Amino acid sequence: MKIFVAGHRGMVGSAVVRALQRRGENQVLTRTRQEMDLTDPAAVEKWFAVEKPEQVIDAAARVGGILENSRRPVEFLIENTRIQNNLMESAFRNGCKKFLFLGSSCIYPKHAPQPIREDSLLTGPLEPTNDAYALAKIAGVRLAQAFRDQYGKSAISAMPTNLYGPEDNFDPESSHALPGMITKFHRAKVKGEKEVVLWGTGSPRREWLHVDDLAGGLLMLMEKYDGREIVNVGVGEDLTILELAEQVQKVVGYSGKIRWDHGKPDGTPRKLLDVKKIQALGWKASIAIEQGIAGTYEWFLRNAPERKV
Ligand SMILES: NC(=O)c1ccc[n+]([C@@H]2O[C@H](COP(=O)([O-])OP(=O)(O)OC[C@H]3O[C@@H](n4cnc5c(N)ncnc54)[C@H](OP(=O)(O)O)[C@@H]3O)[C@@H](O)[C@H]2O)c1
Repeated sequence: MKIFVAGHRGMVGSAVVRALQRRGENQVLTRTRQEMDLTDPAAVEKWFAVEKPEQVIDAAARVGGILENSRRPVEFLIENTRIQNNLMESAFRNGCKKFLFLGSSCIYPKHAPQPIREDSLLTGPLEPTNDAYALAKIAGVRLAQAFRDQYGKSAISAMPTNLYGPEDNFDPESSHALPGMITKFHRAKVKGEKEVVLWGTGSPRREWLHVDDLAGGLLMLMEKYDGREIVNVGVGEDLTILELAEQVQKVVGYSGKIRWDHGKPDGTPRKLLDVKKIQALGWKASIAIEQGIAGTYEWFLRNAPERKV
């Protein structure tokens, strides 16, 4: 089976490649951005016409935290719609049998009832700080459904919750909360600083899924799920940003204080996915948050200094 993993150098793509290799797949196709810019329709079509992958897992996207999303809505909207449109169109035009599109939990309305069920999509206004990214992802979900409705193609969409793990973005300026905390606590520990400043109030509740758990869930969906409706991929439990900070602080071994910068946005008050659907398919997250943070910090210590974090 020829499987193309788009975005294989990213956090999700690299975890999917590791999971496929563990499963013994030996025809995993990958391309770097330099080899194939996925926003370029001609380059994408040319490659698919030659390689004709039977399955595609689309883990390529422009991804970022609250600040980056609110500063660059143009790039988030244009690049993400281009990447998903090019991939889906060329894949199906060239014989792809199954396509997995990756959305995100931020596609759901800001005040969706918790835990968020798949059918709450498009039932209310989005969180404004990342609405451009969310709208691009909603367009991707709709495109997958349209390929199924109009052409009978097997396109499925998975909505992961907040992720963390190896290959994450650890730059606190553009990262998600968890990897940003790892960097901040680590730097403060190394420099002997007395306090660490974290964004917001610490009160929003978030769910964190280790990316290796996600990869297992995605491969299960590729095997067992062939439906039109989106599928949430999460843990089913959340914790406050304050509780998360205390966990990260403990793993990093930083003994100073945390100061909360209330001038920075909190984002959505709570984001917990309802995971009954994926659990009914026989999958459940298995990496506990303490264990996941510890493994991620080990990866950070081995790799991040080279990346000048
Ligand atoms: N991170 C999360 O918490 C999270 C949560 C829910 C859903 N997701 C979804 O999961 C997917 C992957 O996210 P991630 O966190 O793995 O992101 P990531 O680490 O930033 O990886 C994205 C990958 O896409 C590639 N890419 C971006 N633009 C490209 C282009 N024009 N041409 C070729 N490659 C391009 C990047 O290539 P380079 O290496 O060259 O930059 C990178 O390898 C996204 O669809 C995202 O929405 C992520």
